[in-house]
Amino acid sequence: MLVKLAILFSGNGSNLENLLQKLHKKKIGENEFEVVLCLCNKPGAKGIERARKFNLESVIIDHTKFLSREDFDKALVEKIGQSGAQLSILAGFMRILSPVFTSNVRAINLHPSLLPLFKGANAIEESFKSDMKVAGVSVHWVNEELDSGKIIAQKAFEKTKNMSFTEFESKIHALEYEILPQSVVEIFS
Ligand code: GRF
Repeated sequence: MLVKLAILFSGNGSNLENLLQKLHKKKIGENEFEVVLCLCNKPGAKGIERARKFNLESVIIDHTKFLSREDFDKALVEKIGQSGAQLSILAGFMRILSPVFTSNVRAINLHPSLLPLFKGANAIEESFKSDMKVAGVSVHWVNEELDSGKIIAQKAFEKTKNMSFTEFESKIHALEYEILPQSVVEIFS
């Protein structure tokens, strides 16, 4: 089956690039994956350049141009609908989504903590500073509540005693690059 994907991002886009490298136009098992839409809410985001390496021009929908969250979400829903994507992947997409989005789009989100712990935008820092001896990353279905939908996959690691924040962050990102493409492949297998 041909699986069409939309990837939504806001900034750096390293997960976007990793997904493009591992899945775009690749046959894995019975499925061939194609990224039909790269969607970004910030003009000038680094991910826009990363997508160009794959000949993909990102669609920019700037949230600051909309009067309400719902109007912005409606524009996202329309674009995703037109693209024909069967699954939308939030890979560093830093917007809170309203029911206009969540009830119309089948989407998964990547989050840099072991959910349900450390929801929100400062997860990496909070889990680094916490007393917990393990940390990790999660992929979950998107629902109307922030970082709260059903968990699809998690990967964890042990925090070593002298681990610096930079080492910790690199470990989080390394796990993200494994878990997100794996989750997408599993959803369709
Ligand atoms: C990732 O850590 C992701 O989990 C979080 O935002 C970061 C995005 O990084 N939601 P990048 O833009 O993919 O490099």
